[in-house]
Amino acid sequence: MKPYVYIGRQITNEAETFISEHCDYNIWREAVKIPRETLKAELKEADGAIIPKVPVNQELLENAENLKVISNVAVGYDNFDIEALKEAGVIGTHTPYVLDETVADLVFNLILSGARRTAELQQFTRKGKWNKMDDPYFLSKDVHHSKLGVIGMGRIGEKICRRANLGFEMEVMYYNRSRNQKVEEEYEARKVSLDTLLEQSDIIVIMLPLNEKTRHFIGEQEIQKMNENTLLVNASRGPIIDEEALIKALENKDIYGAALDVFENEPLASDNPLLQLSNATITPHVGSATKQTRDAMDLRAAKNLVNGVLGSGPVDIIKE
Ligand code: DGY
Repeated sequence: MKPYVYIGRQITNEAETFISEHCDYNIWREAVKIPRETLKAELKEADGAIIPKVPVNQELLENAENLKVISNVAVGYDNFDIEALKEAGVIGTHTPYVLDETVADLVFNLILSGARRTAELQQFTRKGKWNKMDDPYFLSKDVHHSKLGVIGMGRIGEKICRRANLGFEMEVMYYNRSRNQKVEEEYEARKVSLDTLLEQSDIIVIMLPLNEKTRHFIGEQEIQKMNENTLLVNASRGPIIDEEALIKALENKDIYGAALDVFENEPLASDNPLLQLSNATITPHVGSATKQTRDAMDLRAAKNLVNGVLGSGPVDIIKE
């Protein structure tokens, strides 16, 4: 008998076909997110599941007696309560590797548009305000040959360093628990203290996972150590920055600007003050959102699910 799995979100045809070859399954095909009670009820019979981005905790898992694997279609897994998974004997999986280059591209997009203020200047131009040449208002700051500080040095951090060092000839420093020999040898990156990075970088990129240790890792104190020339970039998880402290700093022009793909609450509320700040460059959590990468993430999540329920191959198990 084939295992039975539940797919709680839309996935590509390729990923669905892969699952159908190995498992009996049901799928949530609606464009709206599956209601939590429906997902919970569906998990009752399932041996495994692909889920949308929802909190996975004891409450969700309490009746899921057959469940062996729960597959996240994202590299970040801050929606997983690891202790609850362990307690329930369920394997949690995620989708690393396939999105690294795509997220690094978006980070560079944020660096460039934040530093050169292209989003702000586009709005200015579209509004018909361009009525003279060489307006001093157009002046921005250089990216090439500037100092980049990366907080958190995993796989995506490495790709950012490669772009920074080989493409833009930036001086790269990083803050991380452990040394990363690859970025030191290949991209001339220097491991420094957090204070050195905050005080000396022209551009700071946050590349940390979200957990209880990293929540508000960048708060008022850390922002005060930056200077009025610093651009702060975040494409990892919003709650790593204390958003209220950041808004205050942007309003006071304590730093040059922020370029953000992620926020404390998503989607961003229409009255969030960041929307009114011209020194904030904003995108709607699209780090991995290219067609190719999202397709690859779906397929990887499908393989994790199938291999996990069958015990038949490599699985990206979340280990903590
Ligand atoms: C990820 O994969 O973690 C991206 O942020 C998409 O959620």
